[in-house]
Amino acid sequence: METREALLGRRSIRRYKSDPISPSDLKEILEAGMYAPSAINLQHWYFVAVQDPKALEEIKSVMGGVVEKFQPVLEERFSRNPEQVGITNRFLSTLGGAPVCVLVFLLKPDYPDRDGAMQSVSAAIENLLLAAWDKGIGSCWLSAPQRMGFGPALQARFAPDKGEFVAMVTLGWPDQQPKAPPRREGRYTIV
Ligand SMILES: Cc1cc2nc3c(=O)[nH]c(=O)nc-3n(C[C@H](O)[C@H](O)[C@H](O)COP(=O)(O)O)c2cc1C
Repeated sequence: METREALLGRRSIRRYKSDPISPSDLKEILEAGMYAPSAINLQHWYFVAVQDPKALEEIKSVMGGVVEKFQPVLEERFSRNPEQVGITNRFLSTLGGAPVCVLVFLLKPDYPDRDGAMQSVSAAIENLLLAAWDKGIGSCWLSAPQRMGFGPALQARFAPDKGEFVAMVTLGWPDQQPKAPPRREGRYTIV
């Protein structure tokens, strides 16, 4: 796939087929994450790729709590298209049936340049999404579990000594072809 096609064509996928992701595809996606740029090359990320069905169920039960707390945020954000609230809740509580969920951590909680460290982790997450899309594998980046305060529970269960939970990324073969949400005008200037 051409880089530009991947950049413009990638979509957040919230419904997946149950087909598994092969170990080699998963490894290549995670390695693409590790090749992201990072502030003073500290490579501030750590990934836990969860594919064991029982462990995925544990994540989904945490997501039940996320849905409950996230409801008011979604209702306000989507006040003009309330059907989006149900769609998002369904996705959050089921992970869209994704066969893999990558938990992303900020490896050390005490980096002196926390903003730079978070930027590095974000770059790594974007690499995961694009490397997956390049293979036809869909993904969705989720910050809701962290935002709603469920990071410590995920850390304790899946990576007690790997720093701070930042986000999760679902991965799977797309079972939908969403249109690109329109991009807002005027978000750049060339000086
Ligand atoms: C930092 C970040 C956090 C996000 N968190 C969520 C989330 O918690 N739940 C969700 O359904 N989508 C989440 N998304 C996906 C966005 O909703 C999506 O990227 C946006 O609507 C644009 O759609 P696109 O990815 O198809 O271009 C997140 C995206 C980013 C970059």
